[in-house]
Amino acid sequence: MRKKIVAANWKMNLDLTEGAELVNDIFNGSPELNENKIVVIAPPYIHLTHTSAQLVGMNHVHLGAQNCHAEPSGAYTGEISAAMLKSAEVEYVIIGHSERREYCHEDDAVLSKKVNQALANGLKVIFCCGEPLAVRDANEQNAYVESQLTAGLFHLPVTQLIDITIAYEPIWAIGTGRTATSAQAQDMHAHIRKVLANKYGETVAAETPILYGGSCKPSNAAELFACPDVDGGLIGGASLKAAEFLGIVAAMSNA
Ligand code: PGA
Repeated sequence: MRKKIVAANWKMNLDLTEGAELVNDIFNGSPELNENKIVVIAPPYIHLTHTSAQLVGMNHVHLGAQNCHAEPSGAYTGEISAAMLKSAEVEYVIIGHSERREYCHEDDAVLSKKVNQALANGLKVIFCCGEPLAVRDANEQNAYVESQLTAGLFHLPVTQLIDITIAYEPIWAIGTGRTATSAQAQDMHAHIRKVLANKYGETVAAETPILYGGSCKPSNAAELFACPDVDGGLIGGASLKAAEFLGIVAAMSNA
């Protein structure tokens, strides 16, 4: 049975005290989870050790990171390796977020190396894809996303797909308040699943969680998560407030 996942991407928000309070508030909200309905919390690196300690005893809430480096170690000032994340009890890492593609100039080649580093170190990958507005307006989003998946993931053998979750995040919906409609999300998620099936077979495609991201909030989460190919969400802004985040998690639990 494929997992449903709500993942919190805090981005560059919250100091240590605020982060600890947020995790505490989420814990106190007693989200209804089980091994197939899970939460991932991806704070900035500096939080990881503390958040990891807080998550002990929080069943089905997993620790994530927002990035890792493409090389195993070395003279890369300011960077963090996948092995370091693993040693900090991190289980998931977000790779290919559109903000890193844009602001940090991460291209397909570097992203595929990051995926390799993450998997080689026993991390699960949340691989982000999604088109800018101009591509959507030209109705070329399917080919665009397919090429991101091909370049970032399709060098992997089928045995490694078990550790991959995909997050479809149309760039025009991230942080803009403009959510994709549930029909737009479903169409793209079905397309992604078909692309996965063509490459890796129906069974793998049916088991791979595909999350939606982009202005997801409690008021639209239930409709999005009701779509047959939408398996949860990657949440930015609404992951920073416990009540909003818990509302989205509840939508996933009830879906
Ligand atoms: P948003 O961000 O929920 O603030 O739109 C989603 C993301 O970028 O992961």
